[in-house]
Amino acid sequence: MKALILGRGAREHALTWKFSRSFRISGLFCAPGNAGTADLATNLPEISETDTEALISACRREAVDIVFVGGETALAAGVVDALHAAGISAVGATAAAAQLEASKAVSKDFMKRHGVATAEAVVFTDTEPFEQYINKLRHPVVIKKSGLAAGKGVLETEDKDEMIAFGRETLRDDQLLVEERLTGYEISVFALTDGTSYTLLPPCADYKKAGEGNTGPNTGGMGAICPVPWVKPETMEQVRQRVLEPTIAGLELDGLRFTGVLYLGLMITDEGPKLLEYNVRFGDPEAQVLLPLIKSDFGSLCEAMVEGKLAEFPLELSKKTALGVVLASPGYPEAYRRNIVVDELPTNDRKELVVFHAATKTEGERVMTDGGRCFTVVGIGHELLEARGTAYSAVKNVKFDGAWWRPDIGGMIFGQ
Ligand code: AMP
Ligand code: GLY
Repeated sequence: MKALILGRGAREHALTWKFSRSFRISGLFCAPGNAGTADLATNLPEISETDTEALISACRREAVDIVFVGGETALAAGVVDALHAAGISAVGATAAAAQLEASKAVSKDFMKRHGVATAEAVVFTDTEPFEQYINKLRHPVVIKKSGLAAGKGVLETEDKDEMIAFGRETLRDDQLLVEERLTGYEISVFALTDGTSYTLLPPCADYKKAGEGNTGPNTGGMGAICPVPWVKPETMEQVRQRVLEPTIAGLELDGLRFTGVLYLGLMITDEGPKLLEYNVRFGDPEAQVLLPLIKSDFGSLCEAMVEGKLAEFPLELSKKTALGVVLASPGYPEAYRRNIVVDELPTNDRKELVVFHAATKTEGERVMTDGGRCFTVVGIGHELLEARGTAYSAVKNVKFDGAWWRPDIGGMIFGQ
C-alpha cells in the first residue's frame, strides 16, 4: 500500500514516521513535508495543502492508495471531498463535517441540538445586541470568534471595554460567541471513526501557553503528554457518555459522518467534562505523543478505517507514557526569526526518544528553521517522570541559535 500524508508540521512528521514503521507500506509520500519527513518519505514540496488538483494528479501518478490529511485548512477546503470524487481513499473529515471546527457558531448549535455537555453560549452577528448583552453581564465569560483563528480567537478578560473592542473588530467579518467561563483542567481526547463506529484513545494534555506555569500568550502548543495521570477512568467514561456518544449520534442524524479523527477539547469541571470545541483532526503537539503509543500496525489501522471495518480492528496501545517538548524560534509566538541553521540534532534511533520536525527545511546538507515551532522532542517511559527525563535530556542536544522551550511540560495544568 502507498500512502501520502498531507501537511508540513510535526504532527505530519509523526504520521509519516508511524506509516514508515508499518509492514503494509510499500511507498510513502509527504506533501509538502519538512526536513524530517524527507528522511522517511518522498517529499512533494511543490504541493501546498489546499492544491487539490496537484494532489490528485500526484496520487494518480504515484498510484497512492490512501491519503491522510493532517490539518484543518485542507479539511475545511474540501480536500477529502475532492479525493473521494476522484476515487482516492482518504482519512479526514469532509468539508461539511469540518464546519464543526471551522465555525464555532455551527458547532455550538450542533452541541445544543444533540445534547452534548458544553458551556452555555450566545451567538451574535450584530454589534448593538452584543454591546447591550455585555453591559448587562453579571457572570464570567470568554468571548470567541466563530471562524478559524489559529489559537488567537478567544478573549479571556474581565474588562468590558476590552470585550466590546474585540467584539466590534470581530463582528466586521465574523460571528461572535459569548460563552460561560468554565473552571477546571483541560484535556484533549481523540476518537478514530470510520463513520459508524469509533475508538476512543487515551487522553492527552496540551500546554498551550508560552510561559512556565501556564503564563503568557497562547501558542499552537508548547508540549503535550499522553496519557494524563490525573484523569480518572470514570472521567473518560463520562466523556464517552456525555460528549462522544451524543456527538456520533448527531453526526449520523445530520448526515455528517466521516472517516477520520474527532478531537474533543474538554474542560473537566466539578460537574464533569464539558466540551469547549471540536476539531476534526489530530492535535499538534498531541499527535506527537499519542502516535508513538499505538502498537498496532498503522497502515492496517488506516486501511480498516477507510474500509469501514474499525469495529473489527484489534487496536493495541502501549501502557507507557509519552511526553513531548516543543522547541520554538526566538520571538515565537510574536514575530520570530526564520532561516536559522540547526547545528545539531539527536539521531532518531532510540526506542525511547523521537525527534519530530515541524517548521524545518533542508538547504543542501543543512537543516534550517522555517517557522515558529521547529521541533517536538518526545520521550517515552514507563511513567511520566521517566518520559520527562528522557525528553528534557535530549532537548539540549537540539541546537539552533535562540531555541527556547517550556521547562515544565508534564506539570498539572488548571483552568481559570
Ligand atoms: P477554543 O478555541 O474554544 O479551544 O479555546 C481556546 C482556549 O480558550 C481553550 O483551550 C481554553 O483555555 C480557553 N477557553 C475556551 N472556552 C472557554 C470557556 N468556556 N471557559 C474557560 N476557558 C475557555
Ligand atoms: N494542540 C491544539 C491543536 O492542535 O489545535
